[in-house]
Amino acid sequence: MSPNAAAEAKPTRRAWLSWLLGTSLGAVALSILYPLVRYVLPPPSAESQTGRVLAGRRSELPPGSGKTFRFGAKPGIVVATPGGEIRAFSAVCTHLACTVQYRKDLQHIWCACHDGHYSLEGVPIAGPPPRPLERYDVAVKGDEIWVSRQQG
Ligand code: FES
Repeated sequence: MSPNAAAEAKPTRRAWLSWLLGTSLGAVALSILYPLVRYVLPPPSAESQTGRVLAGRRSELPPGSGKTFRFGAKPGIVVATPGGEIRAFSAVCTHLACTVQYRKDLQHIWCACHDGHYSLEGVPIAGPPPRPLERYDVAVKGDEIWVSRQQG
């Protein structure tokens, strides 16, 4: 190797500064872009690949009670009728999309936003909701209450 070739192969101060500046700018750009991309892209859904979620446990739902649960990115509601039947619905009110809840004193589903009332079939019975709540399929396995979207 000639002395000139060895000198050219040695890193120069200019090359080192260029590398430092390039990586610094890259790191700054990455630190700005990463949060922006995370903000724009939706988070992964909590809904399983099978579209089934564990909505709750039978032991925590005595007859005449209800609870909300997370179904993917939206809330769901599971109710135990006074007769003990387990039913599940979307908890998104069909009026203006507030979250509905079970009212033990009324023994039906209620939306606090505009005093909307739904029967335990998910059908609007009073107030402004225009349509029934979306009903889900329920499978009780032991103590576990599994909920999935209705097919078809
Ligand atoms: S959003 Fe539920 S009654 Fe209006």
